[in-house]
Amino acid sequence: MRYITFALAKGRLAKKAMDLLERTGITCEEMKDEQSRKLIFVNEELKLKFFLAKASDVPTYVEYGAADIGVVGKDTIMEEGRKLYEVLDLRMGKCRMCVAGPASAREYLKHHELIRVASKYPNIAKDYFYNKKHQTVEIIKLNGSVELAPIVGLSEVIVDIVETGTTLKENGLEVLEEICPLSARVVVNQVSMKMENERISRIIQDLRRVIGEGV
Ligand code: PRP
Repeated sequence: MRYITFALAKGRLAKKAMDLLERTGITCEEMKDEQSRKLIFVNEELKLKFFLAKASDVPTYVEYGAADIGVVGKDTIMEEGRKLYEVLDLRMGKCRMCVAGPASAREYLKHHELIRVASKYPNIAKDYFYNKKHQTVEIIKLNGSVELAPIVGLSEVIVDIVETGTTLKENGLEVLEEICPLSARVVVNQVSMKMENERISRIIQDLRRVIGEGV
């Protein structure tokens, strides 16, 4: 029997994803050692492997089949646009993709002005402004702390994740438009889905059961 490999997005999601998997009977003791610098973990009994990767790399590993199954946010799935199957909404890590900025930026949006949009998600921002709103904008790619951009005058608005809204509020910014809801998803490699259908379907079914979606 070959190994089924999981790629988990590093960070807040990984721990929650492992907790869910554990409730389906899939455990990985090795992974619980937080001191460890190991990158890949094995459950020999169940013939499973797990590795943690930067969230934005998870869809890449899954598309190329280096991982059969991935757990990653819908934001990353949309941004990366990889060829894979999105099979399950884990309904955790819930948040929203939004256009945000100072209240004064509402006017620019209303009148479809040529504004600058800063984001860690240039593809999502482009798709939203060009295809949904039919507004021409200049997109500026940033890698973090995007809320800074409208404060220091790099852009009029941002496209970013809003969870509690605290970051926006503490910086005098607000949600101007909502793009879509987000949460953690399970994705599967398209070939693995066919070649290992039985084992992968069982895993998905078990996850569905523990998150209370029945079978
Ligand atoms: C995310 C996001 C916001 C913040 C939203 O950033 O980009 O900055 O969380 O959360 P809130 O609405 O609960 O305040 P993250 O922590 O991933 O850091 P980064 O922006 O530096 O990447």
